[in-house]
Amino acid sequence: MQTLSLTGANGVSDILIETGLLARAGAAILDTFSPSRVHIVTDSTVAPLYLEKLEGQLALPVSHTVIPAGEEHKRLTTVETIYHDMLAAGMTRKDLVIALGGGVVGDITGFAAATFLRGVSLCQIPTTLLAQVDSSVGGKTGVDLPEGKNLVGAFYQPRLVLIDPDVLDTLPRETFTDGMAEVVKYGYIADAAILDMVAQPNYRDKIEDIIYACVKIKRDVVAQDERDTGLRMILNFGHTVGHAAEKLGGYTALTHGQAVAIGMAAAMRLSRAMGAPEDLTPGLVALLQSLGLPTELPYDREAIFGALLSDKKKFGGTVNFILVRTPGKADIVPISAEALHPMILNL
Ligand code: NAD
Ligand code: GLY
Repeated sequence: MQTLSLTGANGVSDILIETGLLARAGAAILDTFSPSRVHIVTDSTVAPLYLEKLEGQLALPVSHTVIPAGEEHKRLTTVETIYHDMLAAGMTRKDLVIALGGGVVGDITGFAAATFLRGVSLCQIPTTLLAQVDSSVGGKTGVDLPEGKNLVGAFYQPRLVLIDPDVLDTLPRETFTDGMAEVVKYGYIADAAILDMVAQPNYRDKIEDIIYACVKIKRDVVAQDERDTGLRMILNFGHTVGHAAEKLGGYTALTHGQAVAIGMAAAMRLSRAMGAPEDLTPGLVALLQSLGLPTELPYDREAIFGALLSDKKKFGGTVNFILVRTPGKADIVPISAEALHPMILNL
């Protein structure tokens, strides 16, 4: 088992990574928490695969909410359903909420845990690659509004994160590949050794080590900037243009990972335009393509520029771009809208 711990403003999160860990999750949970009861939140795809396996290990009263799978259910009405289920089950502030699922389940459940009775203990059991390397760690929780994604939320750290790479075996290939976009992101922003691992044809054999390397980066970044006011922005490499592309596609034309892949290629071209000593774009593009991810922006550049200016990372006429000029090192560079416009048109 590989372990990491993240010390945040409100305590420590223990992160355990081990193949087959879900079968031992009950023991790990009861080593950490002493609840009288447990409420598990999962979704309609994950429930038939793993809910019974988890429930069967908890020698305690257990209740659950199964939400419909999909980003469109990451909204306040779903959180309200979870509150009602927890009240009906008799959950108190001393009890435990478990998120069993991908990033959607993790974000919603984290927000429900942060706000139910002003905060109950939270355990994250991420079941997608994206959730294992990114969303289950670091305490960002929340839901979408009709006006945009993740507009309501809270920073709320899980006390325990249990990562079992075996559960990735049931993921559709496209969902696994989505998570690989985030893995490549970690390689370029903080640890070029990840890129060497991913470039191997049999990289999936090393997925536990790859997950550990990514989570370690996320832990280190969040430990220094839990509230996302500085360094944590490097985790947005590829996400500025990526979010703009996702928005232009109505959040259906591109998956998040595809948008991030396209966004990273765009950010790499900008990095070159902003003085990177060598053009890292061809290597990035080849790696993303080998993983089955797209790299070309399918939208009008003027429309991309408009969409990224309305993105929430815009502060007073500038956009904070994450640039990579050397593999394994990212810089946060504020670029004015005027300077950015011609660069986006040339992407
Ligand atoms: P998701 O949670 O929608 O999962 C994708 C699909 O995979 C769903 O249909 C789900 O039911 C299914 N699934 C999950 N685990 C499975 C398994 N083991 N086997 C088979 N199917 C499985 O999507 P995601 O990509 O995991 O997460 C995306 C969400 O994460 C977005 O809402 C995004 O905003 C959020 N996010 C949050 C953070 C954060 O820091 N909190 C970071 C990145 C992304
Ligand atoms: N996924 C970006 C962050 O956690 O900050």
